[in-house]
Amino acid sequence: MTKVCVVGAGTMGSGIAQAVAQSGCDVAMLDVKQDVLDRGLGGINGSLGRMVKKGTIQQADADRILARVKATTDMRKAAEDADYVIEAVFERADVKQPVLRQLDEICPERTILASNTSSIPISLLSSATKRPDRFIGMHFFNPVAMMRLIEVVKSLLTSDETVRVSVEFGKSLGKEPVVVKDSPGFVANRIINAAGNEALRILQENLADAEDIDKICKLAFNWPIGPFEMIDLAGADVVLDMADSIYQQTGWERYKAAPILRRVVESGYVGRKAGKGIYNLFPKG
Ligand SMILES: NC(=O)c1ccc[n+]([C@@H]2O[C@H](COP(=O)([O-])OP(=O)(O)OC[C@H]3O[C@@H](n4cnc5c(N)ncnc54)[C@H](O)[C@@H]3O)[C@@H](O)[C@H]2O)c1
Repeated sequence: MTKVCVVGAGTMGSGIAQAVAQSGCDVAMLDVKQDVLDRGLGGINGSLGRMVKKGTIQQADADRILARVKATTDMRKAAEDADYVIEAVFERADVKQPVLRQLDEICPERTILASNTSSIPISLLSSATKRPDRFIGMHFFNPVAMMRLIEVVKSLLTSDETVRVSVEFGKSLGKEPVVVKDSPGFVANRIINAAGNEALRILQENLADAEDIDKICKLAFNWPIGPFEMIDLAGADVVLDMADSIYQQTGWERYKAAPILRRVVESGYVGRKAGKGIYNLFPKG
């Protein structure tokens, strides 16, 4: 892979762009506004700075990696010569589909289009393009710099060659790609969404406070972080969109978002990116 384009410079897009640049490829990072791009570049710079501090890389490496990321609001410039495109915009089909349609028109024939969606069927997203055989899910995990898994999601129409190239690409980023079939929430989010929703219901029933529910999960199951810490990290808005999407597609009650999650999002306490989250809204005691 020589030229990669990442669409969306938020939590995931900037993390994926960083991983690509670290692997030695040039990457165009596209978003709708310059201030969002600046924030994304700032995040990458901060993450590289921490790696320099830890001694994992030298300052000169960090400078080279950052220079490989070209931030732009111009889709044509970002995508017209890309070999591989990863879309990481908001978790809504009505936002993703127009973006994918435009990318399909701009990108060369050979280009593989991938979506980092957490829960929207790959077949639905690929139907916005004329290349469903070269369309795939590349589901990275947050924070991208630390998490090694990529769920590589194959739709009924994704070609074996697209899967092969995507798995190789994932490995070139130092990740562990695992191929799964297309279904709402794929595998990881089916599991964590059901668990997170139960934790929210327990909070809603006032059986324990948020910090203690996290503590129980960490000590009982050896989870590195608790469900509310995870929601804070992912963004409560992102988690709600994902829960709504899985529930709409399946009708399974266990994925019906606990009402308290909606209240958290409406209050703006969406987690790290807002500087305030569930612990602030439901303090201990
Ligand atoms: N946050 C997580 O933990 C996580 C983990 C895995 C996958 N995902 C998935 O990754 C995707 C992005 O999530 P995120 O957490 O980075 O969201 P985010 O809100 O941090 O970022 C989304 C970005 O998309 C940009 N955007 C919106 N419309 C656009 C358009 N038309 N063109 C270009 N950019 C546009 C926004 O300006 C924003 O910067 C979602 O599909 C989400 O489900 C998120």
